[in-house]
Amino acid sequence: MGGIFAGVSRKNSNVIPVVIEGLKRLRFKGYDSTGFALVEDGVLNVYKDVGWVDLVVEKLGIDKHSSSIVLGHTRYATHGRPTTENSHPFVDCRQRIAVAGDGSIGNYEKLKDRVLMGGHKLQSRSDFEIPAHLIEEILEGDEDPIHAAERVLEELEGIYSLTLLERDTASIIAFSNSLNLYIGVSDDAFYLTNTLTSLYGLAERYIPIEPLEIALVTRDSLKIFHKGVELPSKPPQVLRVDPAHIEKGGYPHHMLREIYEVPFSLLRSLYTLQEKYLQLASRLILGADDVYIIANGTSLHAGMVASYYLSELVGISPIVVSAAEFPLYYVENTGPGSLIIAISQSGETGDVLSSLYEAKLRGATILGLTNYIGSRLARLSNVYLPIAAGPELAVPATKTFTSTLLLLYLLSLSASKDSGKIDPAIYTQKIKAIKDAAYQLNESVPRLDEEAKKAVNLVKRCRGGYVVSRGITYPIALEAALKLKEASYFHAEGVEAGEFKHGPFVLVEEGFFTGFVMPVEKLSAEATYPLIQSAIDAGAFVVAFGFEGDEKLSQTQGTKYAVIRIPATERHLAPIAYALPLQLFAYRLGVELGRPIDTPRYLTKAVLR
Ligand code: AGP
Repeated sequence: MGGIFAGVSRKNSNVIPVVIEGLKRLRFKGYDSTGFALVEDGVLNVYKDVGWVDLVVEKLGIDKHSSSIVLGHTRYATHGRPTTENSHPFVDCRQRIAVAGDGSIGNYEKLKDRVLMGGHKLQSRSDFEIPAHLIEEILEGDEDPIHAAERVLEELEGIYSLTLLERDTASIIAFSNSLNLYIGVSDDAFYLTNTLTSLYGLAERYIPIEPLEIALVTRDSLKIFHKGVELPSKPPQVLRVDPAHIEKGGYPHHMLREIYEVPFSLLRSLYTLQEKYLQLASRLILGADDVYIIANGTSLHAGMVASYYLSELVGISPIVVSAAEFPLYYVENTGPGSLIIAISQSGETGDVLSSLYEAKLRGATILGLTNYIGSRLARLSNVYLPIAAGPELAVPATKTFTSTLLLLYLLSLSASKDSGKIDPAIYTQKIKAIKDAAYQLNESVPRLDEEAKKAVNLVKRCRGGYVVSRGITYPIALEAALKLKEASYFHAEGVEAGEFKHGPFVLVEEGFFTGFVMPVEKLSAEATYPLIQSAIDAGAFVVAFGFEGDEKLSQTQGTKYAVIRIPATERHLAPIAYALPLQLFAYRLGVELGRPIDTPRYLTKAVLR
C-alpha cells in the first residue's frame, strides 16, 4: 500500500517537481520506499529505491530528469519486504504499463499462480505487480486500456486503488473498488492522488473518482467511465484545505486520522493475511509444547486478549508476559518445543528483541507479529505475520492495536479450524462477521466521536479515574487507561470488575472518573450494572461503554452519567469494537486538556531500551 501522486502536463512541460512535492505530503501513507515511472523519449522508465522521497530523489537524481507524464509512489510494505524490487511502480513484461497501488489485493496468491502459468516473469513479491501483467495480457488481444481496466477491476478482490501509466497513449488510468482517489485540476496539469490534501497549492480544483469508476487522464482530456459507459463530465470542485493539516491528511492530529482509519485498517489486515501463512502459524501453535506471548505496552494488551481467544477457541492456555519480565523468570524454561509469539507494532522494541535472542539460543521457535516487515523482529522470527495496519505516525498506538487484535483472532480461528474445534463453515461465517463489523464501525465513527466529545466534558475536571471491565474486554480497560495517560496525561488505571470492590472502590467519589467497558459475558455483565450504580451513588463521573440495545445502560440515570453506544457485534470481536470509542475518548480528552497528543513527552514510537 502507499501514497500515489501522478501528473500529466497539459502543456507538455516537466511535471516531476510537482510529483515530488505531492509525494512528500504522503508520508502517512508509506515511507519504506519511493518510486517514479516516467516516459522519456517514448520509453517508459522506472526509477525506484528503498527510502523516503528526499533520499531516493537525491540518490537517483530524479530531479535531473524531465517528463510530462509521471507516476509516483511512496510504499508501506505489506506483501514483500521493503526492497527496491518490491517498490512501486511495477511494469509489465513489455515495459508498456507501470502500476502503483494502495490497499491490498486479496486474491493475490491465486492470481500470481495464473500470471506465472501465463509465462510472465515476476520481478517482485508485491501484490501490485500482478495487475501490470493482467493488463498486459488483456491489451495483447484488445487495444483499449479502459476495457483492460474494467476487466481487472472485476477480477481483483480485497480493498485497493490502482493508478497506471500507459506508455503508448501517454495516459494515466486510475480506479478503485473502495478507496479514495482524486483528480486535481489546474491550468497546467492534471494530477492524480489518493489523498486530497496533497493537492494543496498544486491544483485549485478537484474531481473525486468514486469507487468502481475508471478515470482516464491524458494531456488533452479527462474522462470518467462506469461499466464501459463514459459519464457526463463532472464539474470540478474548489479545493479547500487547511494548510496546517496537509501532512496529516486533513486531520488536526495523526492520532485522530489513525482512529478514523481503524475500520479500513481492519479490512486491509484481513485481506493482506494469506491463508497459507495463517495455517503455517497455526501449525506452530498446535505443535508447540508450551506457548508464550511476549510484548510491551499496547501490544501486551493485545497479547492478553489473545490468551482468551486461544483458551476458548483452541483449548490452549498461553503464558502472556511482559517482554521486560520474560528474560528474568521465564526464558529459562523455554526449549526446542517452545513457541514464542512476539508482538510489536514497531518490531524494534528493545525488550522484545533481547528476549527473543535469549529464547532462540535455547532453541525456541519465534512467531513474530509486526506492522513493519522490514523490522528486526521480522528478521529474527522463524515465521512472521504482518499486522498490515498501515503506517502509524502518532506515538499512541491505535489502528495497530485493533489490527493486532484482529490478527490474533484470525490466528486463533485458524488454529481452531485446523484442530477440528470449529468446522470450516463456522470459520467462513466468522470471517464474514469481521467484515460486517468493520463496515458497521466505519459508519459509526462520526457518531462515536460526537458522543466521546460530550462525555469528556463531564470528565475533564476529574483528577483521575478507573476504567473497569471483565473477561475478554478486561485488557481493553487496561489499554484505555494507557491511552488516557499517553494522549491526555490523565491518570487512569484499568480495573478488573471482579476486583473493583476489593479495594479500588475506596477512591470513587465526587471528582473521580469511573469508566465501565461493559463485559460481553452474560454473567459478568449482570454483575457490572450494580457496580455502575454504586459509582454513580458515590458521586463519581461515570461513562459506560456498551453495545447498542443494552437497555439497562440506557435506563440507568444520573446527572454525571453518559453512555457511549457501540455497534453490537460478536463477543470475540468486542475487544476491537470497544477499542475504537475508547481511543476517541482518550483523544478528545487530550484535545480538551490541550495535550501534545501525537508526541507525548518521554515516549517514542519504538522504545529501544
Ligand atoms: C502504545 O500507545 C505505546 N506507544 C507503547 O505502550 C507501545 O505499545 C509499546 O512501547 C510497545 O511498542 P511496540 O508494539 O512497537 O513493541
